[in-house]
Amino acid sequence: MNTLSINNLSLIYKNGFHAIKDLSLEISNGMFGLLGPNGAGKSSLMKTIVGLQKPTSGTLFFNGVDIAENPDYIKQNLGFLPQDFGIYPKISATDLLEHIAILKGLSDTSKRKAQIISLLEKVNLSDFRNKEVHTFSGGMKQRFGIAQALLGDPKMIIVDEPTAGLDPEERNRFNTLLSEISKDVIVILSTHLVEDVRNLCSEMAVMSYGQILQQGNPGRLIGGLENKIWSKSIDKNELEAYDSTYRIISKQLIERELHITIFSHQSSEGFSPVKPMLEHVYFHTLTQKP
Ligand SMILES: Nc1ncnc2c1ncn2[C@@H]1O[C@H](COP(=O)(O)OP(=O)(O)OP(=O)(O)O)[C@@H](O)[C@H]1O
Ligand SMILES: [Mg+2]
Repeated sequence: MNTLSINNLSLIYKNGFHAIKDLSLEISNGMFGLLGPNGAGKSSLMKTIVGLQKPTSGTLFFNGVDIAENPDYIKQNLGFLPQDFGIYPKISATDLLEHIAILKGLSDTSKRKAQIISLLEKVNLSDFRNKEVHTFSGGMKQRFGIAQALLGDPKMIIVDEPTAGLDPEERNRFNTLLSEISKDVIVILSTHLVEDVRNLCSEMAVMSYGQILQQGNPGRLIGGLENKIWSKSIDKNELEAYDSTYRIISKQLIERELHITIFSHQSSEGFSPVKPMLEHVYFHTLTQKP
């Protein structure tokens, strides 16, 4: 079993922006989903875990080893697929993997070559191994990205919005691959797709303004909202009145009618019960008053 302990982590950028605020989390094998609105600090947290930026305060321990004191330990055991993989050089998939593998310290040539062949197979890119990566489609690039993250059999894989921009079929393929991998390692996934977290993750957290507002098993968090979610279609002009009476967690315009969803311990005039889903957990968490 692998464990990542994040203890009272804070990150203040050079311009003074406080991106992570006294954040603590304990993560072990399996898939961990990180949800949160744009700017919540998900990428900042991931980049700090992988050592691309130093925290202002707090500690990170991977399998009991202090990451700040032993940066090599985390490097050898980590795979990272950043949100923005950046510029792809004009070299073939095989050559680029070879290059990254050497940077990761895979010094045994025959083992390295064998792993590259098997990873290209795993991500369905064998037929394109001699093609230059910059000519790949978005989905192929993401699959290449996961292949490079898997070089060296890491014990922790961090993927930042890996399926953004993928078509549904590519997204399924990618998700299946991630969930296969996550059996024996930690996979931390950040995404805006609440449904993916529901389907794939055994644990999750909702992050906002650099803090964790909610965490737990998705099914259990949904269970906590049983009989507490209600909806009603109202007139747009009534919104203000409803807003002052009820705790609206989301609103949606459907065919010119305003559809509001509220959190309430009891039923109210004209409201229908709604079977809670993870998106209700997400909206309920984000609309909580401090
Ligand atoms: N290098 C930086 N210097 C200053 N502020 C930064 C820097 N990088 C990020 N930020 C700020 O930190 C906050 C968190 O950004 P971050 O990219 O971590 O959010 P995110 O949750 O990953 O968002 P998204 O869902 O859009 O990817 C934002 O307000 C962002 O502007
Ligand atoms: Mg991000």
